[in-house]
Amino acid sequence: MCGIVGILGRGPVAGSIIEALKRLEYRGYDSAGIATLENGHLARRRAAGKLKTLEACLAAEPLSGASGIGHTRWATHGRPTESNAHPHANGKVAIVHNGIIENFRELREELRGKGHKFESDTDSEVVAHLFADAMEGGLSPVDAVAASLPRLKGAFALAVLFEGEDDLLIGARDGAPLVVGFGNGERAGEVYLGSDALALAPFTDEFAYLEDGDFVILSRHGVEFRDTHNQRVERHHMRSPVSALLVDKGNYRHFMAKEIHEQPEVVARTLAHYLDMSAGTVALPFALPADAAQLPRLTIAACGTAYIAGLVARYWFERFARLPVDIEVASEFRYREPPMERGGLTLFISQSGETADTLACLRYAKAHDQKILSVVNVPTSTMARESDIAALTLAGPEIGVASTKAFTCQLALLACLALAFGRARGVIDAAQEAKYVAELMAVPGLMAEAMKREPRIEALARDLARARDVLYLGRGTSYPLALEGALKLKEISYIHAEGYAAGELKHGPIALVDNDLPVIILAPHDNVFDKTLSNMQEVAARGGRLILITDASVPGDFSGEVEAITMPKMAPNFSAIVYAVPVQMIAYHTAIFMGKDADQPRNLAKSVTVE
Ligand code: M6R
Repeated sequence: MCGIVGILGRGPVAGSIIEALKRLEYRGYDSAGIATLENGHLARRRAAGKLKTLEACLAAEPLSGASGIGHTRWATHGRPTESNAHPHANGKVAIVHNGIIENFRELREELRGKGHKFESDTDSEVVAHLFADAMEGGLSPVDAVAASLPRLKGAFALAVLFEGEDDLLIGARDGAPLVVGFGNGERAGEVYLGSDALALAPFTDEFAYLEDGDFVILSRHGVEFRDTHNQRVERHHMRSPVSALLVDKGNYRHFMAKEIHEQPEVVARTLAHYLDMSAGTVALPFALPADAAQLPRLTIAACGTAYIAGLVARYWFERFARLPVDIEVASEFRYREPPMERGGLTLFISQSGETADTLACLRYAKAHDQKILSVVNVPTSTMARESDIAALTLAGPEIGVASTKAFTCQLALLACLALAFGRARGVIDAAQEAKYVAELMAVPGLMAEAMKREPRIEALARDLARARDVLYLGRGTSYPLALEGALKLKEISYIHAEGYAAGELKHGPIALVDNDLPVIILAPHDNVFDKTLSNMQEVAARGGRLILITDASVPGDFSGEVEAITMPKMAPNFSAIVYAVPVQMIAYHTAIFMGKDADQPRNLAKSVTVE
């Protein structure tokens, strides 16, 4: 979604705001803007398109104020034009907003009735007018914000700057993340607001997060948090080890390429955290819920790629722990309002830990007496904070919009959890645990080996870039991976792609097969390999173009033409983690051959904090 920044500095802040916005560009990038106080007066620069257009605009017409706010937008209401870009301002107040104001129409009508003039099609602009209106009624800026916030319905994070108030910045949060940064050392006395700590990492390592319903009053002389009842509250200060280096592309053209290549390392790091490698056991750093052995079932909810990680994990929980799994996409789960057995366990999976639909399910499950176990990548995220147990994937910051390393780290951690449940439920014994742990420990090395197929994958991608549609097939855990392959290709190359269970082919999708349709088959040498081979024959018989990703050899009597990506030999239980590598590389290289921006695909945002 959108990214917001605010700074009360000691000198001109425009450059620092741009620097922070660059770190937030992954959240939205269809337009951007900045406002500063120039001798007490609000001044704005805004531009449609990516941040570099705003930078050009600032180079032509610089801003020199020491207090400012900035925004990168991912449009929800109104096209990505300059007039819809944030900050929205009205001579008294300038605001930047992340989220959606659901009741903006009513508020806008009310304010129009009082003579307020609106310049944009956004829901956000209403907030600036609401605050200004309260100030026109005689309230101070702080009181105006306190009085107006309860009138806003929806999810939001806000940063607000006021005409004539050089030492005041207000932030507010309800349903979208916001963090305060405290300058230290050379930057002592400076204070910051940001959508995430990463954005503020060049300036400070000292942070405090707002809770939902909070607003915060920042001045160079101190920071005051107030809760939803406008009462002063303390919020925990923390030192975050976020390193400025973590968001560099290194030697790669794109973050996505870098993140694909980081996987052996970050998966190893994640496994090392949840396994005792020398003992050959799972060693969770938290206790499983007391009734793990008696648990009747596990519920999983997530969105997008995180949901697909849950689909893979379902096979593992059922296989290793004989634990029935209900899994659903969070956006359906939350409105289906499913009955939940008291004391059950619900598992949420999310890279960002801020996805609105998943978070809403978490709160629903909590309200229905569920223990909450979350697999999240951002330790300070709302989901991590609201869960009974937050199991962290150690992928590091994932900047590319297409999830890669977070997905494989989720899988690695979910595999550890499935084994832990298996032991707790007496389904697997110590010897089996040791065998599976050894298989998991081999995964990072196998991923590194799989990376070496990149030149071959690049050659195949050159052809795929000409395809109109692509079909992915798999069985077992390769079926969800087929879904992931199709999602990845769609999201960054815009080629239409579908993932199917290979056995479902003959029930409909086989009608699509002709000489032009590439069919990518994910077929590790497992117990269903021969069945997948039969499905391949069905495609070959209809002239389909086969691309087989496997560690098995194709039998000599196979009748069709096959282009193969030969994978390293491996025990098949955790093949989904290793086979994710070619799946991601296919999408990446196809998108690059097509001249697409793999890191910032159109219409998407990294963290989806609206429903
Ligand atoms: O942050 P989350 O894991 O909760 O995000 C869920 C989805 O929005 C995300 O996985 C999305 O599908 C990715 N763009 C896929 O690459």
